[in-house]
Amino acid sequence: MNIHPLEGTMRVTVACCISLLIGVHTAWAQHPGEAAYEKVCVTCHGPQGAGGLAPALAPMSYDADYVLAIVREGFGQMPPISARELNDDEVAQVVEYLRDPSAAPAAEQAEAAPEHPDLSGIWQAVNAASWNVEAHNAEDGVPAGLSVVVGETIPYREDALAQRRENYENRMEDDPVRQCFLPGVPRIMYMPFPFQIIQTPDHLVMTFEFAHAVRIIYTDGSPHPLPNDFWMGDSRGHWEGDTLVIDNTYFNDQTWFDASGNYHSNQLHVVERLTLAGENHIVYEATIEDPEVFTRPWTIRMPLYRRLEENLQILDYDCVDFFLDSLVEP
Ligand code: HEC
Repeated sequence: MNIHPLEGTMRVTVACCISLLIGVHTAWAQHPGEAAYEKVCVTCHGPQGAGGLAPALAPMSYDADYVLAIVREGFGQMPPISARELNDDEVAQVVEYLRDPSAAPAAEQAEAAPEHPDLSGIWQAVNAASWNVEAHNAEDGVPAGLSVVVGETIPYREDALAQRRENYENRMEDDPVRQCFLPGVPRIMYMPFPFQIIQTPDHLVMTFEFAHAVRIIYTDGSPHPLPNDFWMGDSRGHWEGDTLVIDNTYFNDQTWFDASGNYHSNQLHVVERLTLAGENHIVYEATIEDPEVFTRPWTIRMPLYRRLEENLQILDYDCVDFFLDSLVEP
């Protein structure tokens, strides 16, 4: 029985992403000329070419050939430096670096003055959308809730309503989340569990307490890969002013929007918009498009709240374990 396609590889995935983050950071931190400068020139000319034992070199105004001649031949007190120590290309890179050394450590600069709002932190939706995104009455174990759908109701096609009714009637068995499958997008965003956003200059990672789910949202301008069927879709983000816009595509048709059987086909396309609307809340929107199931695109909207407890961490909700336990119970 295929219980959870990602379980087992998940821990490995998390480890891989953490090392990926570290890798990205160091790659970002240096102008290619900076390393060469620090290997050979820094002892005399000081950090970032600011001067030390030897005169300041930054901001560099000489052309690269002139500097190369000085480096190879030496200059007054400065000894010649051979091509074995630093080749011609490296010297040219050092010159480029010295033209504006403070611009070089891009990552440090991004940290000091973030270009975009920082969505990092632990967040959680506080509403009843995970049971039903539309307005619903309370039931045993289900809190009542107002609709999170803009305009109240989901614009189902006439021929799609029967499937929803069937899903609703069989929800205790058929809800994919009850079978420990990944909840999909946007449902994962309003499950009653916290999740963490880690933001870097070229991607965001969202780690979810529910079932070790992870989303990676690239913001480096890379396109969607070739079509595939993903439980959580493929996510590519970009910034529109202060709003992070995430385009999600290539979903399978196995996930629901809530525990009440609101569903989609594999033609689902989700565009999310996250806007930091204060220190401690994000306005979250998701526009859902699926011509096989809905007559037009529709949008859900809700706040996500920052969890403010000190030392809060994302804990474990290992759905598969509970699911297996429930199978062996008498
Ligand atoms: C051992 C110390 C030392 C090292 C290493 C060194 N320099 Fe120098 N450099 C000097 C000194 C001292 C001067 C000033 C010489 C003078 O005016 O008599 C100088 C002068 C220069 C000048 C001319 C500055 C001017 O205003 O005319 C340039 C350009 C230069 N260095 C580039 C480099 C580069 C690039 C590197 C690394 C590849 C480097 N140097 C490594 C000591 C050093």
